[in-house]
Amino acid sequence: MRLLIKNIGWLQTPAGSYSHKGSKQGKNLKLKDAAIAVEDGIIREITEDGKLPEGEFDQEIDAEGKLATPGFVDGHTHLVFGGYRQNEIPMKLAGAGYLDILRAGGGILDTVRKTREASFEELYAKSEGFLDEMLNMGITTCEAKSGYGLDMENELKMLEVIKALGEKHPMDVVPTFMGAHAIPPEYEGRGDEYIEMLCSEVIPEVRKRGLAEFCDVFCEDSVFNAEQSRKYMEKAREYGFELKIHADEIEDIGGSRLAGELEAVSAEHLIAAGESGMDSMASGGTTAMLLPATSFYLGKTYAPARTMIDKGIPVAIASDFNPGSCPSLNLQLAVNLGYLRYKMTPEEILTAVTINPACAINRGDLVGTIEEGKQADIVIWDAPDFEMLCYRFGSNLADKIIKKGELIK
Ligand code: NIG
Ligand code: FE
Repeated sequence: MRLLIKNIGWLQTPAGSYSHKGSKQGKNLKLKDAAIAVEDGIIREITEDGKLPEGEFDQEIDAEGKLATPGFVDGHTHLVFGGYRQNEIPMKLAGAGYLDILRAGGGILDTVRKTREASFEELYAKSEGFLDEMLNMGITTCEAKSGYGLDMENELKMLEVIKALGEKHPMDVVPTFMGAHAIPPEYEGRGDEYIEMLCSEVIPEVRKRGLAEFCDVFCEDSVFNAEQSRKYMEKAREYGFELKIHADEIEDIGGSRLAGELEAVSAEHLIAAGESGMDSMASGGTTAMLLPATSFYLGKTYAPARTMIDKGIPVAIASDFNPGSCPSLNLQLAVNLGYLRYKMTPEEILTAVTINPACAINRGDLVGTIEEGKQADIVIWDAPDFEMLCYRFGSNLADKIIKKGELIK
């Protein structure tokens, strides 16, 4: 099956299969009047200046002079969950903080109750709807974390849902085990014992069943301290998982320092990250997975993205889609916030939603750029250039979505 995408006004993409840091974060390839030849889902040839790839094609897509970029990669989602938490908003408006609600047995623990009650089928159907919505908005690959089961049975149930979605849905879905997302009610006041149980029982089982590629921990005040996080991460590494850490979301309790020290693939959130944590990440080669829509929704400050770029930390931007701190899967909104709040350039932002997250979920060889040999995950945007995407706000500008060489929208 040969597909031609022609009449692309501008093709903008980072290049290479590695994460981009420092001044390289802001380097994109820009080809004018471009066309792309795709064969059996793989990009075969890219032309520019009105030249067309040679040969016959089974299908042609006319981009009508619009912008083409790689499909967006959402490197941090809590895609699978039972229920919603709109009931928290009045509490928040009355002054309760995110951790106050969690400490009172709400927040993540509320979602844990609802996720435990939900069947595999219910969770599957709900998350499938979210993936449809994401694809429709230009996201063609995403990561998905467990972490609302918090016991063997329900963590495995969540991971089975994520696996089935990855197999059946057009979206590529990369699974992360996040059993260390909160201390479940049956372990209240016994965080050490819960971590011990995860290490001795759940991590080995998840590995045995091949249900996750990464392990993640919520290293945060009132959740897991740095010592507990380290123990869990070291065990995860022993079992062959790569490491991610929810670090410095609300308080800096050493999460980003630990991430760098353990050479974690990514540290995520980093709203409260300090100099020493960032220096540690830079020397550990850890990607900063930044979640600006969460800052917006929690009414917090924004992670110091410019300092991170200056320090040579690869920066990625993700949605953090979840029912509490960010009930939005709109990565285009995160792009706007990256521009206005992080003050990143459009080129840096494109890198942050394509190749950098792709590398942080081990898919850099497959997706994240438009280059010969890569999977044809391409979005045509209702925009002449990427600057327009950074500027327009609140609309879905994804016009045509091509996933593995197939026109989905
Ligand atoms: O990334 N911080 C921990 N986890 C999520 C929130 C999960 C929830 O509130 O349900 C986050 O913000
Ligand atoms: Fe998160």
